[in-house]
Amino acid sequence: MHICPDDNIFIKLSEIITAENIKAWVIGGYVRDYILKRDNPDKDIDIVVLGNGIDIARKAASRLAPGTNVSVFRNFGTAMFRYKDYDIEFVGARKESYDRNSRKPVVENGTLEDDQKRRDFTINALAISLNKETYGELTDPFNGLDDLRKKIIRTPLDPDTTFSDDPLRMMRAIRFAVQLDFRIDDETLASISSNAERINILSRERIIAELNKIIMCRKPSRGFILLEETGLLKMVFPELESLKGVETIEGKAHKDNFLHSLKVLDNISRKTDNIWLRWAALLHDIAKPATRKYDQETGWSFHGHEFLGGKMIPEIFRRLKLPMNDRMKYVRKMVELHLRPIVLSQEIVTDSAVRRLLFDAGDDIDDLMLLCEADITSKNEATKKRHLEKLQLVRHKLKEIEEKDAVRNFKPPVDGTEIIRTFGIKPGKEVGIIKNAIRDAILDGIIPNEYEAARQLMLEKGKELGLVPGDPNAVQDQEAQADDR
Ligand code: CTP
Repeated sequence: MHICPDDNIFIKLSEIITAENIKAWVIGGYVRDYILKRDNPDKDIDIVVLGNGIDIARKAASRLAPGTNVSVFRNFGTAMFRYKDYDIEFVGARKESYDRNSRKPVVENGTLEDDQKRRDFTINALAISLNKETYGELTDPFNGLDDLRKKIIRTPLDPDTTFSDDPLRMMRAIRFAVQLDFRIDDETLASISSNAERINILSRERIIAELNKIIMCRKPSRGFILLEETGLLKMVFPELESLKGVETIEGKAHKDNFLHSLKVLDNISRKTDNIWLRWAALLHDIAKPATRKYDQETGWSFHGHEFLGGKMIPEIFRRLKLPMNDRMKYVRKMVELHLRPIVLSQEIVTDSAVRRLLFDAGDDIDDLMLLCEADITSKNEATKKRHLEKLQLVRHKLKEIEEKDAVRNFKPPVDGTEIIRTFGIKPGKEVGIIKNAIRDAILDGIIPNEYEAARQLMLEKGKELGLVPGDPNAVQDQEAQADDR
């Protein structure tokens, strides 16, 4: 079978290796995606060579992209450089497992087939020749092409061997199955279940990279179900595993919060590629197990799960090695606020409640509304429709209030510094009380969002607290005196 990659990068590479009298093949993800004709194919081109991968990478770089930087990973015998949109990586064919992240250096040279059989899956072990006499020819000793056609993820060797070479491959199997919409071969799947515990020897960084790829799939729920079924989920993400299950008391059952969270994740994934909003969807009910209560009169409740859930986010992010920055804060905010629009929609929607929601959500209000809509997973179409219509009303009201009052990124017109200066006081409790009073009065529509009205209220509140407007320089004078002493 001949597959001639049309991009002339390969023709150039072929000329280079021929001139160097070296044998080389394109292998791995690029070949897989090329054959699958994927919409967004792999931009990494992996080249396996019989001989020294680093030397040939340097020579290829100087011919293709003179002056470009070549990154060398001597321990793994690999080197790569960037050319056009592509990262081209060279590796010497090896007898040992192909694991970039293993600490043990790979030294022993092997044949092409040695190299192919130590790769993760048959579909990733396909190699296309760059050699002059066989240019474009496919080498496929493990029927990878057949597996591509049948949409099967299968290891080239006995799966226990392939997975023990690098346990991350268990997660990769699931990720590829979901990403490509493939099925995992039975023997391979059974081996994941029996080796699941070995995932614990890996760094969290590697695990989270795969989890993120699963989350970014079109239908991520499938990945989480496979992770759960194989026993990987309880190793890597126990909080999510504990959402699973339904308890029934006196004939009353609550919903399975694991399946519900996955449904919400799928729903949001149809609307957005924002990975953090997807994370928020996955985690929005994470505190339900911890807040679950049964009452004979009212049935099941999960009171305060949004706040406890919000509190759990930093710890989950820290442990999973997700970023502890604004992204974490965003997910936390989404989890904390996820009930607000729906609660609002069930009451009479007052201007002041809408203003508060806008104030609390700020620029993330549209994301919050998406999350809230995704959270409606009722199987009863009429109920679903009713909830969505109510949320639509909230959306209208949000727009109306935003146009009228612009509170989305609202900053009260009188701030803490002004309060301190006006009353000649030091930062402390009083400043907070006055600030909150001004904010609440504006959000509740008691005073307009204007400077004069806010200043007036500041003076009134100050008076109630026994403060008198003083010399604006007083505090500075006091501080200066303190410094002198
Ligand atoms: N590989 C492997 N075992 C691993 C990682 C990688 O055998 N744990 C091999 C596979 O042949 C894979 C190739 O190295 O195709 C390149 O790895 P990588 O870039 O991580 O994966 P891709 O298949 O290119 O897919 P993606 O870019 O989507 O991760």
